[in-house]
Amino acid sequence: MIVDHDVIVLGAGLAGMRAALEAARNGVNVAVVSKVHPVRSHSGAAQGGINAALAPGDSWEIHAFDTIKGSDYLADQDAVEIMTREAPQDIIELEHMGVIFYRDEEGKLGTRAFGGASKARTYFVGDITGQALLYTLYDQLLKAGVKVYEECFATALYMAGGECRGVTAIDMLSGELNLIRAKAVIIASGGAGRLYEPSTNALICTGDGIALAYRAGAPLMDMEMVQYHPTTLKGSGFLMTEAARGEGAYLLNKDGERFMQRYAPKMMELASRDVVSRAETIEIAEGRGIDGNVLLDLRHLGRDVILTKLPQIHEIALDFLGIDMITDPVPVRPGMHYMMGGIRTDVHGATSIPGLYAAGECACVSVHGGNRLGANSLLDTLVFGRRSGRAAAEYVRRTSPTATGEDFLAAEQRRIADLMARPYAGETHARLRLELGTLMDAKVGVYRNEEGLMEALTGVHELKRRYGLVAVGDKGRIYNQALTFVLELGYLLDCAEAVIHGALTRKESRGAQARTDFPQRNDAEWLKHILITHNDGGPPRIDFQPVTITKWQPQERTY
Ligand code: FUM
Repeated sequence: MIVDHDVIVLGAGLAGMRAALEAARNGVNVAVVSKVHPVRSHSGAAQGGINAALAPGDSWEIHAFDTIKGSDYLADQDAVEIMTREAPQDIIELEHMGVIFYRDEEGKLGTRAFGGASKARTYFVGDITGQALLYTLYDQLLKAGVKVYEECFATALYMAGGECRGVTAIDMLSGELNLIRAKAVIIASGGAGRLYEPSTNALICTGDGIALAYRAGAPLMDMEMVQYHPTTLKGSGFLMTEAARGEGAYLLNKDGERFMQRYAPKMMELASRDVVSRAETIEIAEGRGIDGNVLLDLRHLGRDVILTKLPQIHEIALDFLGIDMITDPVPVRPGMHYMMGGIRTDVHGATSIPGLYAAGECACVSVHGGNRLGANSLLDTLVFGRRSGRAAAEYVRRTSPTATGEDFLAAEQRRIADLMARPYAGETHARLRLELGTLMDAKVGVYRNEEGLMEALTGVHELKRRYGLVAVGDKGRIYNQALTFVLELGYLLDCAEAVIHGALTRKESRGAQARTDFPQRNDAEWLKHILITHNDGGPPRIDFQPVTITKWQPQERTY
C-alpha cells in the first residue's frame, strides 16, 4: 500500500508530537509514524523536570551560560541562545495545555535545583515529568486530529532525486510493508541508548532514525558524546533521578564520605553529570565503592519529601532492590543515559538532505555539546520539535514532488523477504545485542583510550559480520517482533560504529569524552564538531565543523 501526507513525523515522543502539532497548526497534512503507541515513547521515562529561566533573579543568559559551560564549550551558542530564550514560552504553553506542574506554598510554579545549574530553574511534576508532558501532548495531538500510524516500524527513508520523500514501514499488526510518502520527513525517533548495557533507556531506544538518516547520507555529529548518568540503580540500571540530589540527597563512598567535596567543592553532588560520573568511577576503581557502586543517601530528606516529590524512584528502589530509601541508602553507579550527538541539523531542524528534518535526542543541533545538563533534554524536544514542525510545513509549501516510489517499495519488500528467508546459522539477535552493549559499556564508557576503542571497533566489525548470519526466528506476519528486533540490531550496529569513530577521532578529553591517553581539553585543536558520513563498503568519512561562539569564550571548567 502507498499512502500520502505532506509531512511525516517518525517517532511519537515529545519531540515528534510537538513537531506534528506545530506542522498541523501550520495547515499541512501531517501524520506520525511510531513503532509503539505514543504514550509508550521513551520521553515518558524522563523523571526530574524541564528547565527554563522564568523565576525572578534568573535570565536566559544565565541559563545559556550554564548550558554552554555544561557542554564543555562544544555546544553551538546561537542554538543555545534560541533554546534558552524560547524556554519560558514553552513552559507556559505546556501549563496552558494542561500540565499540572508543581506549585509552591504561594501557588506559584515552583522549581527544584538540578546539576550544573547556577539557579533552581527546573519545573517538574513529582518525578514523572516526562510522563505528564507526554500524556498532555498526546491529548493535543488527538484534539488536532493528527493521524497516528502506531506500531508501525520504519525500515528505510524513501529518497528520490536526492530528496527525502517518505518512509517504508511495517504495519506490525498485519505484517504489511507500506510506503508512506510525504513532501518532508521529520525524524524524532530518540536516541540509541540500547547500544549500551545496562542503560537507563527503554528497550525501544535503538537508534532507528539515526541509522536511517546515516544510511541515506546525512552526516552524524559528535556521536562520541555519550552521557553516563551518575545515579542508575545497581543491577537493572534504572534511572534514579538527579532530582534526588536536587532535593538534597548525598553521594557517599564506602567510608560514608561525601566524596564529591574532593572533585567539585562548590557544587558537590550537583556538579555536571560528566564530572560526577567520573568521580564515582574513580571512587569505585580505587576501592572506595561497594560492590561496584556508590550510595545515594536520601534519608535526611525525610519521608514527606521522598513520598511527595520522589515517589516513583522510591517505588523502583523498593521493587527492584527491596531497599526503602526513607530508611536506607540506595546503591547506584554511572550508567548510559543520553546521546548528545546525532543527526546534524540547523536551528530549524533541517538536515543536509532536502526534505529531511530531525529533532530531539536523535538530532544534534547542537545545544548539549559534550555534556547535557539535566532537564535540558525535555526542553530541547519542545523547542526544536516546534521549530522543525514549522520549518517542515514551510518547506512543503515550496515543493511539489511527483508521486513515485513503487519500485522503491518493491525493492524494500524484497530486502525484508530475503531477511525473513535466511536460514538459522547459529546466531541470534539477542546474543549479539547483549555482546554489543557489554562491549560498548566496557570500552566506550566513562573513560576511553586508543587501545580500548580499537578493540571496540574490531569487536563491532566482527558483530557486523555475525549479524549477516542472524536469522528471523518467527516466520509469521502478525506482530513479528523477531523481525523488528533483527532490524533494530542493524541500526544499533551502525550507531556503534559512528560512536567509536568519533571517540577515536577526538584526541582530547571534553565533556563525556574522557580519554585517559589525552586527559586534557585541547581547544587549540579540538574546539570543533566531528561529522561522520556513511560510506558504503568502507570506513565512514570524517569531517569537521567549527563550533559557533557568540559571546561566551571557553574557560576552565570547575564546579
Ligand atoms: O535525572 C533525571 O531526572 C534525568 C533528567 C534528564 O536527563 O534530563
